[in-house]
Amino acid sequence: RAPRRAPLGRARAGPGGPPLLLPSMLMFAVIVASSGLLLMIERGILADMKPLPLHPPSREGAAWRATAPKPGAPSPEAGDSDQRVLQDVRNRTLRAVCRQPGMPRDPWDLPVGQRRTLLRHILVLAGVLDSVDVRLKMDHRSDLVFLADLRPEEIRYRLQHYFKFLFVRDPLERLLSAYRNKFGEIREYQQRYGAEIVRRYRPGAGPSPAGDDVTFTEFLRYLVEEDPERMNEHWMPVYHLCQPCAVHYNFVGTYERLEADANQVLEWVGAPPHVRFPARQAWYRPASPESLHYHLCSVPRALLQDVLPKYILDFSLFAYPLPNVTREACHQ
Ligand SMILES: *[C@@H]1O[C@H](CO)[C@@H](O)[C@H](O)[C@H]1NC(C)=O
Ligand SMILES: *[C@@H]1O[C@H](CO)[C@@H](O)[C@H](O)[C@H]1NC(C)=O
Repeated sequence: RAPRRAPLGRARAGPGGPPLLLPSMLMFAVIVASSGLLLMIERGILADMKPLPLHPPSREGAAWRATAPKPGAPSPEAGDSDQRVLQDVRNRTLRAVCRQPGMPRDPWDLPVGQRRTLLRHILVLAGVLDSVDVRLKMDHRSDLVFLADLRPEEIRYRLQHYFKFLFVRDPLERLLSAYRNKFGEIREYQQRYGAEIVRRYRPGAGPSPAGDDVTFTEFLRYLVEEDPERMNEHWMPVYHLCQPCAVHYNFVGTYERLEADANQVLEWVGAPPHVRFPARQAWYRPASPESLHYHLCSVPRALLQDVLPKYILDFSLFAYPLPNVTREACHQ
């Protein structure tokens, strides 16, 4: 990790500090939105790079640049035709919705609070992509530079010239995952949100409940009452968090195809072949469609009907079907 610290420290210096861009460095930015992930990579920067310091010096080293497809040119292995149809639907839906009058065209069209939320979640990371040892540790916020830390013209430049992409996930799977992770495992969330939820929705709860036994139903009741624009980032609708009308993402990947889509993006930006999306950690237990189905079927249907509209843009913009919680489906 040591080699990455120097450039990051430099980048963090921000306005008025030393130069933000080291010519031989690949700059990229990451936004982590619970399961949403956005990476911005400066277009064409690799083409300007002089002899690339490849570690380890590899036989394929010189070859990758010649074979890397241009950004925006889908490669044959972009996925099967179903995937392309879905990507096309997402793309057209986004454009159609964002063309509507009154939709934000850039972050400066957003109310101050929403703009702050957006820019605070876009992290700019300077690092060398030529080392296989590069590890992005998302929980080390201090290693990362937020887009909000930059001056407006620096932000504009990056929004205009960097390759920007967003990863989305089934909205309800994302909520279940956030619920299981935050309320099941993380003390701070239990104390901050769990206790509040129990106080609100559990008759007879004392003034200071532990908040470590929130049910999924209680969590959904809480979501119904919360303002989507002020929610915690882990359950804020992706539309509000990532503002896909204000930021013109070049690509929308999905959690369902995380590895393939991520590697596709790396290909588009011309990353060396040994830079690949890291494998999922062994301890990670994803919320499966089965466990989601189970949880949804145990939630009162009227409650779901109240929750779904809050996330309807995430369903429709990113082409996720609404859940089937009919009696037949739940009794299978
Ligand atoms: C949508 O398609 C256009 C034109 O092909 C492309 O430039 C743009 O990057 C795509 N956007 C997304 C989010 O896929
Ligand atoms: C929901 O699931 C049931 C049982 O599998 C099925 O009969 C029904 O057609 C489904 N409804 C929708 C809208 O998909």
